[in-house]
Amino acid sequence: MSATSAAALEFPAAANRSGPAEHVTINPLGNALGAEVGGLDLARPLTPAELDAVRGAIQSHHLLCFRDQRLDSDEQVAFSKQLGPLEVFPEKDKTKGESTVYNVANVSPEGEHLPVDDHRVVFQKVNARWHTDSSYRYIPSFVSIMYAIRVLPEEATGGETEYSNMLDAYDALADEMKARIEPLHMVHYFEFGRRLFPELPPVSHHERVHVPPTCHPLVRVHPDRGYRRSLFFTTNAGNEVSGMSMEDGVALHRRLASHVSRPEFCYKHRWRPNDLVLWNNRVLMHRAKGYDMARYPRVFRRTTVAGTEAVLGPYSQAVQGKVRPLDTVFKS
Ligand code: OGA
Ligand code: MN
Repeated sequence: MSATSAAALEFPAAANRSGPAEHVTINPLGNALGAEVGGLDLARPLTPAELDAVRGAIQSHHLLCFRDQRLDSDEQVAFSKQLGPLEVFPEKDKTKGESTVYNVANVSPEGEHLPVDDHRVVFQKVNARWHTDSSYRYIPSFVSIMYAIRVLPEEATGGETEYSNMLDAYDALADEMKARIEPLHMVHYFEFGRRLFPELPPVSHHERVHVPPTCHPLVRVHPDRGYRRSLFFTTNAGNEVSGMSMEDGVALHRRLASHVSRPEFCYKHRWRPNDLVLWNNRVLMHRAKGYDMARYPRVFRRTTVAGTEAVLGPYSQAVQGKVRPLDTVFKS
């Protein structure tokens, strides 16, 4: 469209909203993962071309940051639903209004900066360990979406969210480690947070019944990426490996956890107010960096797009005959 046409002069935003999404800019945030996306107002419905651009960027960059967004809760839910049906959080007291909107904060929904021993604040510390969201579900989540309402001032230490790329972390493993973990599964359970922080109130009967422990392969296979493998585990929903002694499983789990912290796999997001960041839980882990919780209020609104299928591993029936044999994956 010509910049001098009457329509472009009078209705620039409307002119942008038809045809290809050429106004959408995508700039990588680092070497490991992530991109900053410009040209979109997420409070308005995306056009099919814009939605395609966002979906494509999720697939190739894994994390997207949209700066200076102004969304209320309903608008965030409406934006999120364009990517798929939303998850409902099992713990009612973490939600705000709708059960699909989580209050990731050391501030209550009513606005009180909570004491550090309030269980809603202690629960935030569970997020300080490497994890992928909802791994305690048989079908873990697809994408998490966090909108920054109150962030730490520039001079404060911590409060970032750090991400690690599990495709790269898998590729960088030694061949013998790849062979060792190929058939293994980790046990994931919601209640593990209580083992980390026994001061938390016990999980409710409803949660215990509806979110039972589950197992996922340590090696995740991605049909949408040519059956490529990635690491898939968490450190906030368990540390036991099925079929191994507690001692051996925990030792293996600890080795993997230290491997994924290598800086070449990671991107650390320093939040600005009104950032909306979304990330693909299928291929990333993340953790909140510690900060002075008594001093600084920190408030995010989170929505989560549900996953569509159970995690596939190299031995899953659905991928038999399609996954590359492991020896062809080894480094030469
Ligand atoms: C979460 C989470 C990270 C953070 O809400 O799932 O991991 O930095 N949050 O608060
Ligand atoms: Mn999380």
